[in-house]
Amino acid sequence: MNHKLMLGAGALLGFAALSVCAGPQKGSADLLIADFEGPSYGDGWKAEGDAFGSGPAKGSFPKQRKVSGFLGKGFVNSYLNGDASTGSLTSPEFKIERDYVKFLIGGGALEGRTCVNLLVDGAAVRSMAGANGEELMPAGWNVSDLKGRNARIQIIDNSSGGWGHITMDQIVQSDVKPEAFLENQSRPMTMKEGRYLLLPIKNGARKLRLCVKDQAGALVRAMNVELADGDFDWQAPVDMEGFAGKTVSVCVDRLLEGSKGLANISVSNVLPGVLPAKDPVRPQFHFTSRFGWLNDPNGLVHSGGLWHLYYQHNPYGLEWENMHWGHAVSKDLVHWTELPAAMRPWTFAKGHAFSGSAVVDKENVAGFGANAMIAFLTDTAAGEAIAYSNDNGRTFKYWEGNPVVKHGGRDPKVFWFQPGRHWVMAVYDEDKESKSIAIYTSKNLKEWTFQSKNEGFYECPELFPLAVDGKASDTRWLMYGADNQHLLGSFDGKSFSPASPERTKGNYGNCLYAAQTYNSTPDGRRIQIGWARASFKGSVFNQAMTVPVELSLRKSAEGVKLFSNPVKELESLRRARQEFPKMKLDSASKAVQGASAELADVLAELSLGGASSVSLKVSGATVSYDASAGRLSCCGCSAPLKLSGGKLNLRILADRGILEIFANDGEVYMPVALPKEIQPDSSISAGASGEGASLERLTVFKMEPAW
Ligand code: FRU
Repeated sequence: MNHKLMLGAGALLGFAALSVCAGPQKGSADLLIADFEGPSYGDGWKAEGDAFGSGPAKGSFPKQRKVSGFLGKGFVNSYLNGDASTGSLTSPEFKIERDYVKFLIGGGALEGRTCVNLLVDGAAVRSMAGANGEELMPAGWNVSDLKGRNARIQIIDNSSGGWGHITMDQIVQSDVKPEAFLENQSRPMTMKEGRYLLLPIKNGARKLRLCVKDQAGALVRAMNVELADGDFDWQAPVDMEGFAGKTVSVCVDRLLEGSKGLANISVSNVLPGVLPAKDPVRPQFHFTSRFGWLNDPNGLVHSGGLWHLYYQHNPYGLEWENMHWGHAVSKDLVHWTELPAAMRPWTFAKGHAFSGSAVVDKENVAGFGANAMIAFLTDTAAGEAIAYSNDNGRTFKYWEGNPVVKHGGRDPKVFWFQPGRHWVMAVYDEDKESKSIAIYTSKNLKEWTFQSKNEGFYECPELFPLAVDGKASDTRWLMYGADNQHLLGSFDGKSFSPASPERTKGNYGNCLYAAQTYNSTPDGRRIQIGWARASFKGSVFNQAMTVPVELSLRKSAEGVKLFSNPVKELESLRRARQEFPKMKLDSASKAVQGASAELADVLAELSLGGASSVSLKVSGATVSYDASAGRLSCCGCSAPLKLSGGKLNLRILADRGILEIFANDGEVYMPVALPKEIQPDSSISAGASGEGASLERLTVFKMEPAW
């Protein structure tokens, strides 16, 4: 759609609503020509050539960027054999009975070559191409002059070069004029009243591409964003640090005619919305970003007296998009200060700034300066890349020699290997045959040599040593991927040899993913933070991090086992302490009078006696132990656990939306994102099946918000 004004139905909802009823507008209900939801294109549709195959596509094809904007599951996609394939797809004849023919269209902007035609008497009387994008956009033609004539839709792919494909969906006849989009709109804005541009966001709105350019026209911010045309759900601040007093240009690739999206962007020095500590849905001692989405923790490193927490971050929407490295720092692993994002997609990294790690280069082997912080990230448009910082991780520079490793993988975890005096990169690698963790080594952090591979792992690798029962002479190495299931073994600096092929879960919860451990901890502790996949609706943020846990290996009757416990620093949030006397348990779960689990650190000891199970209900979720199965369960999660002397010790960190359960001093770690069905309440109750069980001890600390 290379013309200034694009015709389109704009709000996708418009389509859905109109096909059900005609609405207040003039004319009759829409007539569906094709929605491509069936296994074939439909009766009378004819495909020629090799671009369209025998029926609709159900998504992107291999090597194609993600296609979006289609309705339902099926749509036309001529990328079947890549851009090289060509062909046509022609509809059966239909009579033109409405004023407009409307559709969703994407793919190449090659007029006459990757386009849709309206054929009347075999001649193309209307034609339209895509806009070099994989998002299908609403568009259409006024066909009122052709009413009563017979016509066909002909979709053509006559190009085998770049963007030589077309995508289409939802072709209808309608009496409602398609809404129009204005292309390439911009607005100058002066950063006088503050450092933030506040973007009005409507969750779920069709995304547009928004750019901010400086006075010289250079791109300084870029993002895909659900800009609200009218009323907005929330305002996403774009941090324009460094632009005080300057005029920038805010540009969008398209705007619905009449949209207030651009006009409603404002400049402010104040972060909008409720304060995090006052937000009724926000966790209070689990890290969440102030605005937007987060996923994997990245670049965990202790440097310059600070614990750095970088993370995959979309500051401008509540879903995965625009991957930045968000950044927060803490002096105590408990209270976090969010700083401006350390790396931005498209203006810092060439593509998205995907996951990775960070180290401190004390001896300046890389030549970026002594004590430079060096981050390793996956730049989706380059490969494994280096970014370095000379201000303790606040701002980074992208190394011009990138990429340092180029392969089919991502998520480099780099660490120092003291015995060999070299650096190690454990990085996820994938090709057609295998998914694995690859090991590379380096002396200078810039040149990397491939050493070995361990197969059967997926994303976000970790590899680190732990001393069994704290004895350095008995050190084992753990290797895990994003699912946190580890192998125990040995590592000689170049290859990891598992002692047994059996994997063990590092946690038994329902939300932890892509956990990473800190580099350069001052006291040698191995501290892990994971992404807690917990969804928070009705606020300005989404997802959280688990609390930092300290990992240890301990010998037990069942062999060497991994234990996880909240870092001791979290105890600094403990306030009022409540102690409750021993309580006998019976079949009806009984409330512990006066106990409140609203933001709490709950410590309980239960003894089974002759009971077959015991349970403790906290925040509406029941944690239960089944003696005959030897399993601990909560919200559909379940873990094997053997009790000694019939005693179960539980520590439960109860925050909004998340319960982290630690059983028997960390032998079982179960971080739980509370499912929607759970009605959180502040009571604590306990029960048992069978005789003789009791709640021996219950201590509840009120937790102070970390905000
Ligand atoms: C894991 C992951 C990583 C990738 C990142 C992108 O959750 O898919 O492999 O680097 O997220 O946000």
